[in-house]
Amino acid sequence: MCGIIGYIGNKQAKNIILQGLKKLEYRGYDSAGIAVMDEKKITVLKCKGKIAHLEELLKHRKAPIRTHVGLGHTRWATHGAPSKKNAHPHNDCSGNITVVHNGIIENSADLKKSLKENGCHFKSETDTEVIAHLISRFYKGDFKAAFIKALQKLKGSYALGIISIYEPDKIFVARNDSSLIIGVGEGENLISSDIPAILGHTRQIISLRDKQIAAITRNTIDVFNFQGCRVIPKIENISYDIDTASKGNFKHFMLKEIFEQPQILSGLVTRYVSSSGNIKFDHLKIDKKFFKELSNITIIACGTAYHAGLIGKYAIESLVRIPVTVDFSSEFRYRTPVIKAKTLIITISQSGETADTLAAVREAKKNRVKVLTICNTQGSSLTRESDTTIYTHAGLEIGVASTKAYTAQLMVLYLVALYLGNMKGVISKNNLQKFIAELKNIPLAQKKVLTDYKNIEKLAMKFLHFGAFLYLGRNNNFPTALEGALKLKEISYIPAEGYAAGEMKHGPIALIDEYRGVICIVNQSPVYNKIISNVQEVLARGGKVIAIATAGDFQIQNYVKEIIFIPEIDNIFSPLLTIVPLQVFAYCVAALKGYDMDMPRNLAKSVTVE
Ligand code: AGP
Repeated sequence: MCGIIGYIGNKQAKNIILQGLKKLEYRGYDSAGIAVMDEKKITVLKCKGKIAHLEELLKHRKAPIRTHVGLGHTRWATHGAPSKKNAHPHNDCSGNITVVHNGIIENSADLKKSLKENGCHFKSETDTEVIAHLISRFYKGDFKAAFIKALQKLKGSYALGIISIYEPDKIFVARNDSSLIIGVGEGENLISSDIPAILGHTRQIISLRDKQIAAITRNTIDVFNFQGCRVIPKIENISYDIDTASKGNFKHFMLKEIFEQPQILSGLVTRYVSSSGNIKFDHLKIDKKFFKELSNITIIACGTAYHAGLIGKYAIESLVRIPVTVDFSSEFRYRTPVIKAKTLIITISQSGETADTLAAVREAKKNRVKVLTICNTQGSSLTRESDTTIYTHAGLEIGVASTKAYTAQLMVLYLVALYLGNMKGVISKNNLQKFIAELKNIPLAQKKVLTDYKNIEKLAMKFLHFGAFLYLGRNNNFPTALEGALKLKEISYIPAEGYAAGEMKHGPIALIDEYRGVICIVNQSPVYNKIISNVQEVLARGGKVIAIATAGDFQIQNYVKEIIFIPEIDNIFSPLLTIVPLQVFAYCVAALKGYDMDMPRNLAKSVTVE
């Protein structure tokens, strides 16, 4: 996924584009570029590396750039390694047409072959470059017509920004499956992959729809469909503010976000639980009759959000007693799923822009189901395409490795389970109060875990040399093992595998030796004795164990010296606590290795391509 930004108006384009790119860097940061246009030419500047590198390039440029039209791009490589030549923007052979793109052109190889046969010279390995050449090939004096003709040849997903010498006072855009926002200003207009990047300039936006284009001048925005027919766009007013995040006293956003979790969870309970102890989901745009008659739930998500979904399965099946399936979005969308009537689809997404999850929702909606999204980003594509949304209000999560958004997703899932269970008469009012009282204890319990930071840091130092890790958990902490392993992989680049502890003996036990770190989640639970046996199986083969255990558990100390304790809590909610030491452990290991925990290599915060 990449981030695109564009400006046309009466101000200097360069500065506005650079500032916008910094807000889009979460979408990808392996290379970046800018193209600015005056009446005579388009100037393109691009580089491998982050926006800061591009900024340096611009600062040291001899010829100052003073123009009022431009495009910017920050990249997460799909076709072609991160490099200057593969960085966007990309030109046609003449240099008169310049493109920035977010998405994947699936038929780019065929198009490239045909264009080459017609004399086009390609400078990059990207799929994007074919777009500039294609428009150039069709251009006979009518740029919009050439643009539409080129778009009709493309297969795949794209949000495009185009400038051309042939139309020096316009930016052209197009959208198919990748979000593209037009910021409507006064004497100026902007384009962007998302709302936050332009919110500082305008609150009036147009969210382009699939298979639409727009021709944008500083005072006009003309929208058309792919047949060239004019479309009257809906202008929306963005009422909310995007909280600007700062690291405060923390070295990394990720660490700050780990420490923000208690207050965020406390805020969610306050927001969604009334003083009389009822769950306040009355804003949901799905009527209660549907919920009452609900017969099954399918949860769809990716990555960390998928792990949250797995924990949601344990919670909902335990508290509501209806079947829950959990699917990777990327699998769900292609496996022709069987979706029964009275199914609730729950999608979970921090960004609300994940391409696979968006596509999965579109697939699901072919079956007349209701879609509830649990999301952290207001106004995101997923919230627009779902029937209703419960926001996680975790604030801007800058760290690419999700932490606070994850536990906020868990908290919302627990509240959904309690809401449905109480509505369907499976949870009595009295038990509801008990569960809510327990949830209210979580923030303090998380704070207590975080006071153990130094002990966890010491364990990270002690286990730093291991070349691989196995994370073991059972029952509702099996997903915690998956999430803990993902955190370590994402930011320390050490191979780590999460596994159901009961499954270890069916194969992965072959991995256990003195060169492997094994993290075992052995909090007090109905399966405590079972996982203690697994710990003993690991120790018997020389594995080095760190145990996440419940305070006051002296039995575990007979087997393991390296222990991180969590406060006692009802096991059903333990995943809200057991993940915290694993987040801190991953952070400390990566910090000791000197890596960038906020922008790990190869990753991006929002995967807007499939
Ligand atoms: C989380 O640490 C990862 N960065 C990644 O797995 C993420 O959870 C996944 O891409 C889903 O993103 P979303 O929640 O924005 O849909």
